[in-house]
Amino acid sequence: MNVIINGCTGRMGQAVAALAEQTADTAVVAGVSPALTKTDDTHFLRLADVNVPADCVVDFSHHAATKELLEYCLKKNLPVVVATTGQTPEENALIAEAAKRIPVFRAANMSLGVAFLAQVVKKAAALFPDADIEITEIHHNGKLDVPSGTALALADSVKEARPEAETVVGRHSNGLREKREVGVHSLRLGSQVGTHTVYVDTGSETLSFTHQANSRALFAEGALSAARFIVCKGPGLYGMADMLAVSC
Ligand SMILES: NC(=O)c1ccc[n+]([C@@H]2O[C@H](COP(=O)([O-])OP(=O)(O)OC[C@H]3O[C@@H](n4cnc5c(N)ncnc54)[C@H](O)[C@@H]3O)[C@@H](O)[C@H]2O)c1
Repeated sequence: MNVIINGCTGRMGQAVAALAEQTADTAVVAGVSPALTKTDDTHFLRLADVNVPADCVVDFSHHAATKELLEYCLKKNLPVVVATTGQTPEENALIAEAAKRIPVFRAANMSLGVAFLAQVVKKAAALFPDADIEITEIHHNGKLDVPSGTALALADSVKEARPEAETVVGRHSNGLREKREVGVHSLRLGSQVGTHTVYVDTGSETLSFTHQANSRALFAEGALSAARFIVCKGPGLYGMADMLAVSC
């Protein structure tokens, strides 16, 4: 499988390249980043300039690159793994539109463990309908989007069981917590890779579910598995639940 990495100079872009190098069936045929200091036949400042044949684009860049990313993949009829987080509603709409014409894999967290956690959280929200649910997330101090896309996705898992639930980011003013709130709280510390905890409190007992990513290789593995998963698929929007269904 030949892959183009969008965001190749970033923390995750480098992790994907390092993993691909150790993977027999995978090669990185081009890397794209506006932060490159040198360009050549395989390194480009803009995706639009990439002219090498590939099977898939893996995107770990910045949400502002979404439009250019999708335009390129639509033009080349290329499957794309959108691992970047923090998209605006307009960018989300572009992703949904592109998925009508090409295979798009999208996950705010490329870990199977987090996909499993999302299922557990949905079950807990249904099993304890009156419980208070709050989410904390911890990431390194270089992370740009707040809260993490994973924390928001976990809050969405609560909403699947409780349609009336409302995500409240960073509670800060005086006043009582409303029953329908799902609070999301962010910590930014040192070089933390990513920890998410979901608290479910019924008043008489507290459950807490934690996922801790120990290395960026985890997300790189997930992204390359996602790429392998969609290269032979038709147009559509795919996610971790689809991969989980295949591996269970
Ligand atoms: N889905 C997941 O599992 C997962 C895991 C980790 C990080 N992420 C997300 O991936 C993204 C990248 O994370 P990171 O830690 O590598 O960030 P980073 O800041 O280290 O790297 C981002 C890279 O994108 C490049 N870039 C910026 N604008 C670009 C553009 N218009 N086109 C191409 N490249 C561009 C930057 O130069 C840099 O190389 C973030 O949105 C982050 O939240 C997702």
